[in-house]
Amino acid sequence: MIPFHKPYTDEREANALYDTLKSGVLRGDGPASKSVQKLISDITGAKYVYFTTSCTHALEIAILSLNLKPGDEVIMPSFTFVSTANAVLLHGGKPVFCDIHPDTLNIAPDDIRSKISSRTRAIIPVHYAGVSAEMDAICALANEYNLQVIEDAAQGADAYYNNRHLGSIGDMGCLSFHDTKNITCGEGGAFLTNSEEIARKAEVIREKGTNRSAFLRGEVDKYTWIERGSSFIQSDLLAAMLNIQWQKKDEIRRLRKNIWETYHAALEAFELAGYLQRPVIPKQCTSNYHTYFFTVNSPADQDNLLQLFRSHGISASFHYIPLHTSPFGLQINPTPPSLPVTEKISNCLIRLPIYPGLLDEHPDFCTLALHVLSEYYSI
Ligand SMILES: Cc1ncc(COP(=O)(O)O)c(C=O)c1O
Repeated sequence: MIPFHKPYTDEREANALYDTLKSGVLRGDGPASKSVQKLISDITGAKYVYFTTSCTHALEIAILSLNLKPGDEVIMPSFTFVSTANAVLLHGGKPVFCDIHPDTLNIAPDDIRSKISSRTRAIIPVHYAGVSAEMDAICALANEYNLQVIEDAAQGADAYYNNRHLGSIGDMGCLSFHDTKNITCGEGGAFLTNSEEIARKAEVIREKGTNRSAFLRGEVDKYTWIERGSSFIQSDLLAAMLNIQWQKKDEIRRLRKNIWETYHAALEAFELAGYLQRPVIPKQCTSNYHTYFFTVNSPADQDNLLQLFRSHGISASFHYIPLHTSPFGLQINPTPPSLPVTEKISNCLIRLPIYPGLLDEHPDFCTLALHVLSEYYSI
């Protein structure tokens, strides 16, 4: 079976892990963490970067920093991973789900406006597939209604909007380094902000609610419990690996782009014939080519094609079940609003394998994928 994704690692990561192991500093916030945080800050332009155990935890830091009161609402797409909504629910807020655009699958600013209420505190745009949501429109709405913008940039490492790195544009941003992501250390994430005030809160929340970081900088004599928080600091071992991965970002992007563009060119004829719709990268966006997806015309086409791909040894995949129609989504809100684009897309989306070593391992892979589509549509 040709896998759906595969981390791009070699002896460079192995050496970095071994060097850190030998150094004896395995805890978090050691030299390797400091160095990767500085590297991410230099690349993204975010003034404050904290390496975390996951993007899920970075999202929790963001939500904890808002100090939500019961009934406070946070707007997000329903077409997202569960972590976006869990972060809000776990820390006292109510997720409010919005619809998406059919071409980018990113949150639709018009629908955000229609969902803003007197209880809304924040908006979480999710940058799907490494292509930015409409950040100008979203930040303008946030300014108008005095809301915070938390970017879920889990899929956004090395992707840009008007030359600004995703995660560094809103008030806060969260990146993922899970092994399905372009730049990975197995499990991990980062919390980004340009605000000193938010950074001070985040550093306490991430350090179990203590002022230990200030203590280590020599700013206080003893450290103690000063806020709510948890253990969101990641090990230096994984920081060492992540350092190498970020250094390989151009190589990773180039190899993924090659596959993305090969699929895109091959699928043009099927789009022109009306069988499917290819993804759109708006001109303000520089993609990191995290995902190649397309949408077919019916749930039956989705089912049949996924099966056909698998029968040819290709791990093609669907994506998110909309959160508002998921079992837990319906438990927390039994009468959700209808989100027609999200509901249709979820039943019609197909993602194809994409990872840097794919064409080296399977040089004729794109021809095979194309062959499956030709067999199904008889063209
Ligand atoms: C949109 C989105 N948000 C959050 C996450 C959670 O990331 P992590 O696995 O680093 O917690 C993911 C992971 O796939 C994601 O795709």
